[in-house]
Amino acid sequence: MNFDISLNREKKNILQLMVLLFGVTFLFAQKQYASFKPGAIWEDTDGIHINAHGGGITIVGDTYYWFGEHKVAGGRGNQSWVGVGVYFSKDLYNWKNEGIALPMKKDSTSMLIEGSVVERPKVIFNKKTGKYVMWFHHELKGQGYDAALTGVAVSNDVTGPYEYISSFRINPGVWPQNLDAESLKEMVPITGREDPNRKEKVKAGAFIKRDLEIGQMSRDMTLFVDDDGTAYHITASEENETLLISKLSDDYLSLSGDYVRVFPGGRNEAPAIFKNDGKYYMITSGLTGWAPNPARSAVADNMFGPWKSLGNPVRGTEEEKKTTFKSQSTFIFPVIGEKNAFVFMADRWNPQNAIDGRYVWLPIEFEDDKPIIKWDPEWDLSFFNTKK
Ligand code: DGJ
Repeated sequence: MNFDISLNREKKNILQLMVLLFGVTFLFAQKQYASFKPGAIWEDTDGIHINAHGGGITIVGDTYYWFGEHKVAGGRGNQSWVGVGVYFSKDLYNWKNEGIALPMKKDSTSMLIEGSVVERPKVIFNKKTGKYVMWFHHELKGQGYDAALTGVAVSNDVTGPYEYISSFRINPGVWPQNLDAESLKEMVPITGREDPNRKEKVKAGAFIKRDLEIGQMSRDMTLFVDDDGTAYHITASEENETLLISKLSDDYLSLSGDYVRVFPGGRNEAPAIFKNDGKYYMITSGLTGWAPNPARSAVADNMFGPWKSLGNPVRGTEEEKKTTFKSQSTFIFPVIGEKNAFVFMADRWNPQNAIDGRYVWLPIEFEDDKPIIKWDPEWDLSFFNTKK
Protein backbone atom coordinates (compact mmCIF):
# COMPACT_ATOMS: atom_id res chain seq x y z
CA MET A 1 0.00 0.00 0.00
CA ASN A 2 2.71 2.45 1.04
CA PHE A 3 4.73 1.41 -1.96
CA ASP A 4 1.80 2.31 -4.30
CA ILE A 5 1.43 5.79 -2.81
CA SER A 6 5.11 6.65 -3.25
CA LEU A 7 4.99 5.38 -6.85
CA ASN A 8 2.02 7.63 -7.54
CA ARG A 9 3.84 10.57 -5.98
CA GLU A 10 6.85 9.87 -8.17
CA LYS A 11 4.64 9.73 -11.26
CA LYS A 12 3.05 13.01 -10.24
CA ASN A 13 6.47 14.65 -9.84
CA ILE A 14 7.60 13.44 -13.26
CA LEU A 15 4.40 14.75 -14.78
CA GLN A 16 4.83 18.14 -13.12
CA LEU A 17 8.42 18.32 -14.36
CA MET A 18 7.30 17.48 -17.90
CA VAL A 19 4.62 20.17 -17.83
CA LEU A 20 7.20 22.69 -16.58
CA LEU A 21 9.73 21.70 -19.23
CA PHE A 22 7.09 21.92 -21.95
CA GLY A 23 6.04 25.36 -20.72
CA VAL A 24 9.60 26.67 -20.66
CA THR A 25 10.36 25.24 -24.12
CA PHE A 26 7.14 26.75 -25.48
CA LEU A 27 8.00 30.17 -24.05
CA PHE A 28 11.51 30.16 -25.49
CA ALA A 29 10.45 28.69 -28.82
CA GLN A 30 7.99 31.54 -29.32
CA LYS A 31 9.84 34.75 -29.99
CA GLN A 32 8.18 37.28 -27.75
CA TYR A 33 8.36 40.90 -28.85
CA ALA A 34 7.51 43.64 -26.40
CA SER A 35 8.09 46.60 -28.73
CA PHE A 36 7.92 47.77 -32.36
CA LYS A 37 11.13 48.23 -34.35
CA PRO A 38 10.05 50.04 -37.53
CA GLY A 39 11.87 48.84 -40.64
CA ALA A 40 13.47 45.79 -38.96
CA ILE A 41 12.76 42.18 -39.85
CA TRP A 42 9.56 41.32 -37.97
CA GLU A 43 9.13 37.60 -37.32
CA ASP A 44 5.83 35.87 -36.72
CA THR A 45 5.44 33.32 -33.91
CA ASP A 46 7.01 30.69 -36.20
CA GLY A 47 10.14 32.83 -36.64
CA ILE A 48 9.35 33.86 -40.24
CA HIS A 49 9.34 37.50 -41.44
CA ILE A 50 5.69 38.59 -41.56
CA ASN A 51 4.36 38.48 -45.11
CA ALA A 52 1.43 40.93 -45.19
CA HIS A 53 2.34 43.94 -47.31
CA GLY A 54 0.05 46.85 -48.19
CA GLY A 55 -1.92 45.62 -45.21
CA GLY A 56 -4.79 46.58 -43.00
CA ILE A 57 -5.98 45.69 -39.52
CA THR A 58 -9.41 44.37 -38.60
CA ILE A 59 -10.34 44.40 -34.93
CA VAL A 60 -12.63 41.65 -33.60
CA GLY A 61 -13.24 41.85 -29.84
CA ASP A 62 -9.84 41.91 -28.19
CA THR A 63 -7.97 40.57 -31.23
CA TYR A 64 -6.23 42.26 -34.13
CA TYR A 65 -6.18 40.60 -37.57
CA TRP A 66 -3.54 41.78 -40.02
CA PHE A 67 -4.39 41.20 -43.69
CA GLY A 68 -1.85 41.86 -46.41
CA GLU A 69 -0.32 40.93 -49.74
CA HIS A 70 1.58 37.64 -49.46
CA LYS A 71 4.64 38.31 -51.60
CA VAL A 72 7.18 35.91 -53.08
CA ALA A 73 10.90 36.52 -53.60
CA GLY A 74 12.37 38.59 -56.44
CA GLY A 75 10.71 40.99 -58.86
CA ARG A 76 8.12 38.31 -59.54
CA GLY A 77 6.79 39.13 -56.08
CA ASN A 78 5.20 42.28 -57.50
CA GLN A 79 2.50 40.05 -58.95
CA SER A 80 0.29 37.89 -56.74
CA TRP A 81 1.03 34.17 -56.80
CA VAL A 82 -0.32 33.14 -53.41
CA GLY A 83 -3.02 35.52 -52.22
CA VAL A 84 -3.99 37.61 -49.23
CA GLY A 85 -2.45 36.44 -45.96
CA VAL A 86 -3.83 36.91 -42.46
CA TYR A 87 -2.17 36.97 -39.02
CA PHE A 88 -3.63 37.54 -35.59
CA SER A 89 -2.36 39.13 -32.40
CA LYS A 90 -3.66 40.19 -29.02
CA ASP A 91 -0.80 42.57 -28.23
CA LEU A 92 0.17 43.98 -31.67
CA TYR A 93 3.80 42.87 -31.26
CA ASN A 94 3.50 39.09 -31.68
CA TRP A 95 1.65 37.76 -34.71
CA LYS A 96 0.53 34.23 -35.48
CA ASN A 97 0.21 33.23 -39.12
CA GLU A 98 -3.35 32.10 -39.88
CA GLY A 99 -2.57 31.26 -43.51
CA ILE A 100 -4.04 32.53 -46.75
CA ALA A 101 -7.45 34.17 -46.38
CA LEU A 102 -8.00 34.71 -50.11
CA PRO A 103 -6.02 32.34 -52.33
CA MET A 104 -5.17 33.22 -55.93
CA LYS A 105 -6.87 30.90 -58.43
CA LYS A 106 -5.24 28.33 -60.71
CA ASP A 107 -8.28 28.51 -62.98
CA SER A 108 -7.40 30.57 -66.07
CA THR A 109 -11.03 31.63 -66.53
CA SER A 110 -10.97 33.46 -63.19
CA MET A 111 -9.98 37.14 -63.08
CA LEU A 112 -8.22 36.26 -59.81
CA ILE A 113 -5.78 33.94 -61.57
CA GLU A 114 -2.30 33.73 -60.03
CA GLY A 115 0.00 36.30 -61.62
CA SER A 116 -2.64 39.01 -61.57
CA VAL A 117 -2.01 41.82 -59.07
CA VAL A 118 -3.82 42.00 -55.75
CA GLU A 119 -2.81 44.95 -53.58
CA ARG A 120 -3.81 46.71 -50.36
CA PRO A 121 -6.50 44.25 -49.13
CA LYS A 122 -8.75 45.60 -46.37
CA VAL A 123 -11.41 43.69 -44.40
CA ILE A 124 -14.46 45.06 -42.58
CA PHE A 125 -17.26 43.36 -40.66
CA ASN A 126 -20.88 43.93 -41.58
CA LYS A 127 -23.06 43.84 -38.45
CA LYS A 128 -26.29 43.42 -40.41
CA THR A 129 -25.21 40.38 -42.43
CA GLY A 130 -22.65 38.97 -39.97
CA LYS A 131 -20.14 38.66 -42.85
CA TYR A 132 -16.55 39.80 -43.24
CA VAL A 133 -16.01 41.67 -46.49
CA MET A 134 -12.63 42.13 -48.18
CA TRP A 135 -11.92 44.79 -50.81
CA PHE A 136 -8.63 45.11 -52.69
CA HIS A 137 -6.96 46.72 -55.68
CA HIS A 138 -6.93 44.26 -58.58
CA GLU A 139 -5.02 44.37 -61.87
CA LEU A 140 -5.54 41.75 -64.55
CA LYS A 141 -2.79 39.32 -65.47
CA GLY A 142 -0.40 40.64 -68.12
CA GLN A 143 -2.03 44.06 -68.28
CA GLY A 144 0.26 46.05 -66.00
CA TYR A 145 -1.80 48.59 -64.08
CA ASP A 146 -4.22 49.35 -66.92
CA ALA A 147 -7.35 47.58 -65.68
CA ALA A 148 -7.55 49.66 -62.45
CA LEU A 149 -10.22 47.50 -60.80
CA THR A 150 -11.36 46.99 -57.26
CA GLY A 151 -12.19 43.45 -56.09
CA VAL A 152 -14.55 42.09 -53.44
CA ALA A 153 -14.59 38.82 -51.49
CA VAL A 154 -16.70 37.64 -48.54
CA SER A 155 -16.43 35.19 -45.64
CA ASN A 156 -18.36 34.01 -42.59
CA ASP A 157 -15.13 33.83 -40.59
CA VAL A 158 -12.63 36.61 -40.17
CA THR A 159 -9.67 34.46 -41.19
CA GLY A 160 -11.52 33.11 -44.23
CA PRO A 161 -11.45 31.41 -46.60
CA TYR A 162 -12.89 34.41 -48.47
CA GLU A 163 -15.07 33.67 -51.46
CA TYR A 164 -14.12 35.87 -54.40
CA ILE A 165 -17.14 37.73 -55.82
CA SER A 166 -15.79 39.93 -58.63
CA SER A 167 -13.61 42.84 -59.68
CA PHE A 168 -14.90 45.94 -61.41
CA ARG A 169 -14.48 49.61 -62.29
CA ILE A 170 -16.38 51.79 -59.84
CA ASN A 171 -19.55 53.88 -60.14
CA PRO A 172 -20.27 53.30 -63.86
CA GLY A 173 -22.82 55.71 -65.34
CA VAL A 174 -22.91 57.92 -62.23
CA TRP A 175 -21.48 61.40 -61.84
CA PRO A 176 -19.80 62.30 -58.54
CA GLN A 177 -21.94 64.40 -56.21
CA ASN A 178 -19.53 67.30 -56.36
CA LEU A 179 -19.13 67.52 -60.14
CA ASP A 180 -21.50 69.38 -62.41
CA ALA A 181 -21.84 67.31 -65.59
CA GLU A 182 -23.07 70.39 -67.49
CA SER A 183 -19.73 72.11 -66.95
CA LEU A 184 -18.01 69.38 -68.95
CA LYS A 185 -20.33 69.43 -71.93
CA GLU A 186 -18.04 71.43 -74.21
CA MET A 187 -14.74 69.98 -72.98
CA VAL A 188 -12.39 68.50 -75.58
CA PRO A 189 -10.91 65.22 -74.18
CA ILE A 190 -7.31 65.16 -72.97
CA THR A 191 -5.18 64.38 -76.01
CA GLY A 192 -2.33 62.77 -74.05
CA ARG A 193 0.39 63.46 -71.47
CA GLU A 194 1.56 66.44 -73.57
CA ASP A 195 -1.85 68.14 -73.77
CA PRO A 196 -1.00 71.74 -72.73
CA ASN A 197 -4.33 71.99 -70.91
CA ARG A 198 -4.07 68.59 -69.21
CA LYS A 199 -3.89 69.96 -65.66
CA GLU A 200 -7.00 72.13 -65.94
CA LYS A 201 -8.90 69.42 -67.78
CA VAL A 202 -8.03 66.83 -65.12
CA LYS A 203 -9.18 69.19 -62.38
CA ALA A 204 -12.39 69.91 -64.21
CA GLY A 205 -13.14 66.16 -64.48
CA ALA A 206 -12.04 65.10 -67.97
CA PHE A 207 -11.21 61.55 -66.84
CA ILE A 208 -14.53 61.19 -65.02
CA LYS A 209 -16.24 62.09 -68.27
CA ARG A 210 -13.99 59.73 -70.26
CA ASP A 211 -14.71 56.75 -67.97
CA LEU A 212 -18.31 57.52 -67.11
CA GLU A 213 -19.81 54.54 -68.96
CA ILE A 214 -17.17 51.88 -68.20
CA GLY A 215 -16.73 53.03 -64.61
CA GLN A 216 -14.01 54.97 -62.86
CA MET A 217 -10.49 53.65 -62.30
CA SER A 218 -9.62 52.33 -58.85
CA ARG A 219 -6.02 51.66 -57.80
CA ASP A 220 -4.58 52.24 -54.29
CA MET A 221 -7.51 51.90 -51.94
CA THR A 222 -8.66 51.58 -48.37
CA LEU A 223 -11.92 51.18 -46.47
CA PHE A 224 -13.28 53.11 -43.54
CA VAL A 225 -16.30 52.26 -41.36
CA ASP A 226 -17.91 55.17 -39.54
CA ASP A 227 -19.45 54.95 -36.05
CA ASP A 228 -22.95 54.60 -37.53
CA GLY A 229 -21.87 51.60 -39.64
CA THR A 230 -21.67 53.51 -42.93
CA ALA A 231 -18.65 52.23 -44.84
CA TYR A 232 -16.58 54.05 -47.43
CA HIS A 233 -14.21 53.02 -50.23
CA ILE A 234 -11.41 55.52 -50.74
CA THR A 235 -9.34 55.14 -53.89
CA ALA A 236 -6.84 56.71 -56.25
CA SER A 237 -8.73 57.23 -59.53
CA GLU A 238 -8.64 59.29 -62.75
CA GLU A 239 -5.16 57.98 -63.76
CA ASN A 240 -4.11 58.43 -60.11
CA GLU A 241 -4.84 62.15 -60.35
CA THR A 242 -7.82 62.32 -57.96
CA LEU A 243 -9.14 60.45 -54.93
CA LEU A 244 -12.71 59.18 -55.04
CA ILE A 245 -14.62 58.47 -51.84
CA SER A 246 -17.64 56.21 -52.38
CA LYS A 247 -20.26 55.04 -49.91
CA LEU A 248 -20.67 51.24 -49.80
CA SER A 249 -24.05 49.52 -49.98
CA ASP A 250 -25.62 48.41 -46.67
CA ASP A 251 -24.17 44.88 -47.04
CA TYR A 252 -20.72 46.32 -47.95
CA LEU A 253 -20.62 44.08 -51.04
CA SER A 254 -21.01 46.84 -53.60
CA LEU A 255 -20.96 50.61 -54.00
CA SER A 256 -24.10 52.64 -53.36
CA GLY A 257 -23.56 55.10 -56.23
CA ASP A 258 -22.94 58.06 -53.90
CA TYR A 259 -19.43 59.37 -54.32
CA VAL A 260 -17.29 62.48 -54.36
CA ARG A 261 -13.99 63.62 -55.83
CA VAL A 262 -11.31 64.76 -53.39
CA PHE A 263 -8.28 66.88 -54.29
CA PRO A 264 -8.81 66.77 -58.09
CA GLY A 265 -5.43 66.65 -59.82
CA GLY A 266 -3.72 66.28 -56.42
CA ARG A 267 -2.02 62.98 -57.33
CA ASN A 268 -2.56 61.24 -53.98
CA GLU A 269 -1.92 57.52 -53.48
CA ALA A 270 -1.94 55.12 -50.53
CA PRO A 271 -4.89 56.66 -48.61
CA ALA A 272 -5.29 55.84 -44.92
CA ILE A 273 -8.20 57.23 -42.87
CA PHE A 274 -9.01 57.53 -39.19
CA LYS A 275 -11.50 59.41 -37.04
CA ASN A 276 -10.65 61.18 -33.79
CA ASP A 277 -12.90 63.39 -31.66
CA GLY A 278 -15.49 63.61 -34.44
CA LYS A 279 -13.04 64.67 -37.17
CA TYR A 280 -11.89 62.58 -40.11
CA TYR A 281 -8.19 62.51 -40.93
CA MET A 282 -6.45 61.24 -44.02
CA ILE A 283 -2.80 60.48 -44.67
CA THR A 284 -1.69 59.78 -48.24
CA SER A 285 1.48 59.64 -50.28
CA GLY A 286 2.41 61.34 -53.51
CA LEU A 287 2.78 59.43 -56.74
CA THR A 288 6.23 57.91 -57.37
CA GLY A 289 5.65 54.18 -57.94
CA TRP A 290 7.48 52.05 -55.36
CA ALA A 291 9.84 54.88 -54.41
CA PRO A 292 9.03 56.80 -51.24
CA ASN A 293 7.97 60.43 -51.28
CA PRO A 294 6.66 63.04 -48.80
CA ALA A 295 3.38 62.09 -47.12
CA ARG A 296 0.41 64.43 -47.06
CA SER A 297 -2.41 64.85 -44.54
CA ALA A 298 -5.90 66.30 -44.54
CA VAL A 299 -8.90 66.82 -42.26
CA ALA A 300 -12.67 66.97 -42.77
CA ASP A 301 -15.87 67.19 -40.74
CA ASN A 302 -17.52 64.70 -43.09
CA MET A 303 -16.18 61.79 -45.12
CA PHE A 304 -17.62 63.48 -48.21
CA GLY A 305 -15.66 66.62 -47.39
CA PRO A 306 -14.74 69.31 -47.93
CA TRP A 307 -11.25 68.02 -47.11
CA LYS A 308 -8.68 70.56 -46.03
CA SER A 309 -5.01 69.89 -46.64
CA LEU A 310 -2.80 69.88 -43.52
CA GLY A 311 0.53 69.38 -45.27
CA ASN A 312 3.26 66.85 -44.57
CA PRO A 313 2.54 65.07 -41.25
CA VAL A 314 6.18 63.96 -40.84
CA ARG A 315 8.28 65.77 -38.25
CA GLY A 316 12.02 65.09 -38.26
CA THR A 317 15.00 65.46 -40.56
CA GLU A 318 14.69 66.71 -44.14
CA GLU A 319 15.38 63.17 -45.33
CA GLU A 320 12.59 61.76 -43.14
CA LYS A 321 10.17 64.38 -44.43
CA LYS A 322 11.20 63.72 -48.04
CA THR A 323 10.76 59.94 -47.79
CA THR A 324 8.23 59.42 -44.96
CA PHE A 325 10.89 57.31 -43.17
CA LYS A 326 11.52 55.48 -46.52
CA SER A 327 7.94 54.21 -46.54
CA GLN A 328 4.43 54.66 -47.90
CA SER A 329 1.20 54.74 -45.89
CA THR A 330 -1.18 51.80 -45.97
CA PHE A 331 -3.49 51.98 -42.94
CA ILE A 332 -4.18 53.67 -39.61
CA PHE A 333 -5.91 51.84 -36.78
CA PRO A 334 -6.98 52.57 -33.19
CA VAL A 335 -5.40 50.72 -30.26
CA ILE A 336 -8.00 48.58 -28.45
CA GLY A 337 -9.07 50.07 -25.13
CA GLU A 338 -7.18 53.36 -25.58
CA LYS A 339 -8.48 56.84 -26.37
CA ASN A 340 -6.83 58.99 -29.04
CA ALA A 341 -4.30 56.23 -29.73
CA PHE A 342 -3.67 55.40 -33.40
CA VAL A 343 -0.93 53.51 -35.18
CA PHE A 344 0.31 54.59 -38.61
CA MET A 345 1.15 51.54 -40.76
CA ALA A 346 3.40 51.94 -43.76
CA ASP A 347 5.37 49.79 -46.20
CA ARG A 348 9.04 50.07 -46.98
CA TRP A 349 8.79 48.44 -50.41
CA ASN A 350 11.51 46.36 -51.97
CA PRO A 351 10.35 45.80 -55.57
CA GLN A 352 13.60 43.90 -56.43
CA ASN A 353 12.87 41.35 -53.73
CA ALA A 354 9.24 41.97 -52.84
CA ILE A 355 9.10 39.44 -49.98
CA ASP A 356 11.71 41.50 -48.10
CA GLY A 357 9.49 44.58 -47.86
CA ARG A 358 9.54 45.98 -44.32
CA TYR A 359 6.88 47.46 -42.09
CA VAL A 360 7.09 50.90 -40.58
CA TRP A 361 4.63 51.31 -37.72
CA LEU A 362 4.70 54.56 -35.78
CA PRO A 363 2.38 56.25 -33.30
CA ILE A 364 0.23 59.15 -34.44
CA GLU A 365 0.68 62.26 -32.31
CA PHE A 366 -1.29 65.49 -32.44
CA GLU A 367 0.23 68.94 -32.80
CA ASP A 368 -2.30 71.82 -32.84
CA ASP A 369 -5.01 69.31 -33.79
CA LYS A 370 -2.95 68.05 -36.73
CA PRO A 371 -1.87 64.39 -36.87
CA ILE A 372 1.90 64.14 -36.98
CA ILE A 373 4.39 61.27 -37.16
CA LYS A 374 7.92 61.11 -35.75
CA TRP A 375 10.58 58.45 -36.14
CA ASP A 376 11.23 56.15 -33.22
CA PRO A 377 13.58 53.19 -33.79
CA GLU A 378 11.91 51.28 -30.96
CA TRP A 379 8.67 52.03 -29.16
CA ASP A 380 5.82 50.31 -27.38
CA LEU A 381 2.21 50.99 -26.53
CA SER A 382 3.10 52.73 -23.24
CA PHE A 383 3.92 55.65 -25.58
CA PHE A 384 0.21 56.49 -25.59
CA ASN A 385 0.03 56.66 -21.78
CA THR A 386 2.91 59.11 -21.56
CA LYS A 387 1.00 61.40 -23.97
CA LYS A 388 -2.07 61.68 -21.71
C1 DGJ B 1 2.50 52.52 -55.38
C2 DGJ B 1 1.33 51.88 -54.74
O1 DGJ B 1 1.04 52.54 -53.58
C3 DGJ B 1 1.60 50.41 -54.52
O2 DGJ B 1 0.54 49.82 -53.84
C4 DGJ B 1 1.83 49.81 -55.86
O3 DGJ B 1 0.67 49.90 -56.62
C5 DGJ B 1 2.97 50.53 -56.57
N1 DGJ B 1 2.70 51.94 -56.66
C6 DGJ B 1 3.20 50.00 -57.95
O4 DGJ B 1 4.14 50.78 -58.63
